[in-house]
Amino acid sequence: MKKAIGIFDSGLGGLTVLKVLAKKFPNESFCYLGDIARLPYGNKSPETIRRYGLQILDFLKNQNVKAIIIACNSASTVFLGESVYEGIPLLNVIEPGAAAAIAISEDNKIAVLGTSATIRSHAYRDTLKRLAPEVEVIEQACPLLVPLVEEGMVDDSITELVIRRYLSDIQKKNFTTVILGCTHYPVIKSDLIKVLGDKVNLVESGDVLAEQLSALYQDNVLVKDVGTRQIRVCITDLTDHFERLAHQLMAPESISDLERVVL
Ligand code: DGL
Repeated sequence: MKKAIGIFDSGLGGLTVLKVLAKKFPNESFCYLGDIARLPYGNKSPETIRRYGLQILDFLKNQNVKAIIIACNSASTVFLGESVYEGIPLLNVIEPGAAAAIAISEDNKIAVLGTSATIRSHAYRDTLKRLAPEVEVIEQACPLLVPLVEEGMVDDSITELVIRRYLSDIQKKNFTTVILGCTHYPVIKSDLIKVLGDKVNLVESGDVLAEQLSALYQDNVLVKDVGTRQIRVCITDLTDHFERLAHQLMAPESISDLERVVL
């Protein structure tokens, strides 16, 4: 029987990761869980985020997945260093994201954008410093960006204005490598580039996780599937608004099944 790859986020954001993975691994099945009913995670305490995360890990384990990807930076900060959940490989976005930023940066100056929970944890800063002590890090919480994305306000002057406000320090100090430390942010990449210019190096969770997953196949921790695949999207609250945005975001990949679930 085909086993899916489990993936989760608090809401829509993780679909930016699912889309990258679905394209890169065309025969794999995916089971996505978006905890829309309890979004946002980014303004919650680490204890609450971990409690929600554990419920989701159990849900995905019960779907018989072969690996679980935490496509949520806020949740990744509370599962740092945990690479297995009850025998299932668990992928976290922080360390590979930090390593990718160091590899791409030419001046050892790295900016991190994220939710309040991600920035407050200093998970990226601490990991960056551990991997490359000489690196200069600036962290910026951007709490208004997730609601703007969930509202579908892409290529929008209000979104651009909010980004300008949050990124003014990063711009003043000429940081040109920026970790998008929230899976919602790639949705407003065009707005970010408008402000930061197209020379900026953006590190995105989707690309980083695709590389992590490839490494698991290479190391024979995971076996690739063949044949027809399923992309199942489960969410804890289903609205017409979510349904419309989810299909838009995933295009041209198509969602085989969209359903509401109770954790
Ligand atoms: N997409 C999530 C992340 O990567 C956060 C969104 C939220 O605040 O729930 O951190």
